[in-house]
Amino acid sequence: MKPALRLLALTTCLFLQAYAIDDLGKACLDGTCSFGVEDSEGTSNTIGTFEISGPSSAISDITPAAGWKILNCTDSTNTQTIQLVCVDESLGCAHLFLEGAEDTVVRLPEGCGIAPFARVAKYWIPEDQSVAPNPVGLSGTLSQVHNLKLDDDFIHASGSHGNVSFSFSAQSDMVVDNSNIDIGERRKRQLFSGSASANRSVSFTNSSLIFNQTLSCPDSNVVDGAAAITVKVNELEATFNMTINVSAAGTLIPTSFTSFNFSVPTNASIQGFITPQSSMQSLTPATATVPLANVTLPQMLIVNIIAINPTFTANATSTVTARNQTNFQSTTFLDFGIENLQFNFSTVNKNTNSSVDVLTPSVPISASIQPNIASSASFDIDFTSALNLLVIAFGTISNASVTYDFGLNVGMTSSSILGILDFDMNVCTNISSFVAANISHSGILLGPAATIPLFNQTSQLLNVCVETVSEPTPLSRRSAALSKRAVFTCPAFAPIAENPVVITAMSG
Ligand SMILES: *[C@@H]1O[C@H](CO)[C@@H](O)[C@H](O)[C@H]1NC(C)=O
Ligand SMILES: *[C@@H]1O[C@H](CO)[C@@H](O)[C@H](O)[C@H]1NC(C)=O
Ligand SMILES: *[C@@H]1O[C@H](CO)[C@@H](O)[C@H](O)[C@H]1NC(C)=O
Ligand SMILES: *[C@@H]1O[C@H](CO)[C@@H](O)[C@H](O)[C@H]1NC(C)=O
Ligand SMILES: *[C@@H]1O[C@H](CO)[C@@H](O)[C@H](O)[C@H]1NC(C)=O
Ligand SMILES: *[C@@H]1O[C@H](CO)[C@@H](O)[C@H](O)[C@H]1NC(C)=O
Ligand SMILES: *[C@@H]1O[C@H](CO)[C@@H](O)[C@H](O)[C@H]1NC(C)=O
Ligand SMILES: *[C@@H]1O[C@H](CO)[C@@H](O)[C@H](O)[C@H]1NC(C)=O
Ligand SMILES: *[C@@H]1O[C@H](CO)[C@@H](O)[C@H](O)[C@H]1NC(C)=O
Ligand SMILES: *[C@@H]1O[C@H](CO)[C@@H](O)[C@H](O)[C@H]1NC(C)=O
Ligand SMILES: *[C@@H]1O[C@H](CO)[C@@H](O)[C@H](O)[C@H]1NC(C)=O
Ligand SMILES: *[C@@H]1O[C@H](CO)[C@@H](O)[C@H](O)[C@H]1NC(C)=O
Repeated sequence: MKPALRLLALTTCLFLQAYAIDDLGKACLDGTCSFGVEDSEGTSNTIGTFEISGPSSAISDITPAAGWKILNCTDSTNTQTIQLVCVDESLGCAHLFLEGAEDTVVRLPEGCGIAPFARVAKYWIPEDQSVAPNPVGLSGTLSQVHNLKLDDDFIHASGSHGNVSFSFSAQSDMVVDNSNIDIGERRKRQLFSGSASANRSVSFTNSSLIFNQTLSCPDSNVVDGAAAITVKVNELEATFNMTINVSAAGTLIPTSFTSFNFSVPTNASIQGFITPQSSMQSLTPATATVPLANVTLPQMLIVNIIAINPTFTANATSTVTARNQTNFQSTTFLDFGIENLQFNFSTVNKNTNSSVDVLTPSVPISASIQPNIASSASFDIDFTSALNLLVIAFGTISNASVTYDFGLNVGMTSSSILGILDFDMNVCTNISSFVAANISHSGILLGPAATIPLFNQTSQLLNVCVETVSEPTPLSRRSAALSKRAVFTCPAFAPIAENPVVITAMSG
């Protein structure tokens, strides 16, 4: 049999072990111990496993399955001193003392510790042996009361038993219970913990002004009211359905990670109306950002090993440049879908194998433009959303993000048509959209900071030019005063289109 197949069979077997009634009594005495990961909705669906492995002497068991009875223990911490007695030597109590009890990682019974395993920091036989009557039929050391000082301070383990490896994989919201021991009591062990309300879906709606600048420009060629540059988003509706899928492997003793993998299968949809408008100048690019969402998602936690804190944020950013008098206003309906985005990020394999279906159905667009003969406007409108995973692993902090970008580039230019009448002009507008996603990461666990593109799909929505005629002379003699330093200025006085150029179209 090929090793890969054997490994698969073994994994399946461990899954079954965690839940099969027949195996309830099986102690961890062979150098491995595994725990099933259930989802926190209590559906008993197995969504992952946590496993530790090492030399036989490095991992032991102090549950009734190995013949031990714990006399006093709290479930509020792993750092505590407990007293225990062996009640059935034939189940393997003596295994705890293989090459010394100290620095052994032990499986704990239900009701003891906050995780199902801990490290033996210190072992001794207490002088006061009166707390428990000597169990019948035991002799020598085993018949005595034993003290174990437990903790989860794996960083301070001596390593005298050799390395202890771990690996886990789980999705989103998760809880581990060691139901292989006490399946009767369904109380969950918070090895992995998460909120009881699993919700990996983030939705937000918004109608707001991303950009709002106005100027008073007396006597200039502003068609409607005050000179302004605005970018409005109306009836924005966005939904991101994400599954956070993480796996990691490393050693508990000594503490280190050898691999960290994650994927975030995603379906998302974004709809709304975007209305950029300009009737004044911004000769240098001007930018404005508004927040749209900031959501904290349920934490994933393995006590003292790794904590993953997911958050989701979304912002709208607009960058505008406008020269001369544009009198430009357009409305584009947004409709983007990200279907079945798949990728695998791994610290040991740089190939993300990403795939996605991007949906950009045809949408209505309208524009009304009454520019002067030599003007231009360009709007970059970006909706950037990111799922960020703050990963705290053995005390180091790393960051991994999946960024979802979608946006519009809206351009307008007008120019005189050479060779014909001075006041004939050509008015062009060009609207394109993009949908993109990338992964970025930084920090010790995840390697040198980098950004990995997953996809970037651009679509031309509209590209039209229309000929029109300008007024041969300016409407007024007075030119607006220009300040060289201001970002926003009133447009210079110039011949302007007699009538607005009106465009209505479907994209694509
Ligand atoms: C158990 O009993 C011992 C001896 O009295 C004591 O030192 C220890 O703190 C107790 N542990 C707990 C968890 O109560
Ligand atoms: C134990 O772990 C350390 C650090 O990860 C590694 O350098 C060493 O080779 C490991 N020892 C064995 C026997 O695997
Ligand atoms: C998830 O959260 C959103 C926003 O808080 C809410 O509208 C939605 O109903 C929730 N979904 C589930 C399945 O709980
Ligand atoms: C839109 O976002 C802005 C900025 O965060 C916020 O002030 C406003 O309340 C939001 N509007 C809606 C409808 O949620
Ligand atoms: C845009 O800015 C102008 C001037 O600062 C202000 O009068 C107007 O209320 C703003 N519009 C909105 C919708 O906030
Ligand atoms: C989570 O990742 C594991 C390992 O890469 C994979 O087998 C599993 O299908 C993934 N789950 C989802 C929902 O993508
Ligand atoms: C992470 O992925 C790599 C290859 O993609 C695989 O070799 C490794 O076993 C994975 N690690 C875990 C903990 O799943
Ligand atoms: C997100 O999930 C909800 C609930 O399952 C579903 O109704 C919705 O269509 C999903 N949205 C997307 C974009 O897949
Ligand atoms: C997001 O919300 C968290 C918790 O409410 C807050 O601490 C954080 O500052 C917020 N971030 C932003 C960018 O507003
Ligand atoms: C703006 O108008 C001035 C004067 O009419 C002209 O020289 C200049 O080229 C125009 N700028 C642009 C970007 O069209
Ligand atoms: C949104 O803006 C906030 C505040 O500047 C920032 O912390 C966050 O990372 C931004 N989110 C995205 C997805 O760009
Ligand atoms: C995707 O491509 C567009 C157009 O080339 C660009 O503006 C945008 O920045 C790109 N996005 C990402 C995330 O690379």
